[in-house]
Amino acid sequence: MKKGSTEAYSDQISQAVNFIQGAYTGQPKIGVILGTGLGQLIDHVDVEKTISYADIPYFPISTVETHTGELIFGKLSGVDLIIMKGRFHYYEGYNMKEVTFPVRVMKKLGIGKLIVSNAAGGLKPDFKVGDVMIINDHIDLFPENPLRGKNLDDFGVRFPDMSEPYCLAWIEEALKIAKDKGINAHQGVYAGVQGPNLETRAEYKYLRTIGADAVGMSTVPEVIVARQMDMPVFAISAITDLCSPGNIKKISIQEVIAAAAIAEPKMTAIVKELVHKL
Ligand code: HPA
Repeated sequence: MKKGSTEAYSDQISQAVNFIQGAYTGQPKIGVILGTGLGQLIDHVDVEKTISYADIPYFPISTVETHTGELIFGKLSGVDLIIMKGRFHYYEGYNMKEVTFPVRVMKKLGIGKLIVSNAAGGLKPDFKVGDVMIINDHIDLFPENPLRGKNLDDFGVRFPDMSEPYCLAWIEEALKIAKDKGINAHQGVYAGVQGPNLETRAEYKYLRTIGADAVGMSTVPEVIVARQMDMPVFAISAITDLCSPGNIKKISIQEVIAAAAIAEPKMTAIVKELVHKL
């Protein structure tokens, strides 16, 4: 088998899947990718099994301090989930096949739906720090596409449709849940950029001009791969800093994490309810 070939990649996915199935025999229905500072959801999960990324064959290992790198199996609101505590970012140096490897693995483990969370900068002027935004569309500004190269025909088509990347029924349901709980949830367009630096003022202005409401360094690659595999996706951003004119100031990763903590209970409340609605 040629190194770097699609056969090699598919084989690596199968080896990771076989390893996980040897360690856990449950049947997860939904995959959840938790973003920076958004791990609180785990506190609500009846955890059945935790597997460290480092133990799974061919699984990338997270290099960001704030991402611990564990695959967690358990029940949330009675629904079987796989939760990725820690994700892989392009800026860490992984290529897009590596960034999206876990999504392929989770699909092979049987999940039919994907939920994604992230921390994002708010471009829309009425957003506040600690708000949540349900993603209803995205703009892919990454320099590499996870589907580039020979198509993995077993997973999906060469030219996947992207007219509804985020499941409209889930968005509607999530907005209803938020309203019932008195949570002010926005919806909007997420621009995915490579990072790791934050944007200049001119870049924020550009992102707003092209139609983005929030900007972050993740999510888009995983969603593209999930959609190629025909999985409905729900994604939600914690607004951790403000990027609209007049609101831009210097921020640190500590501030991003502190702001994510404000949004976290809101996101947790929405996701907890959403998983057993659809
Ligand atoms: N830009 C890009 N990514 C981000 C930001 C931002 O302002 N905030 C949190 N993630």
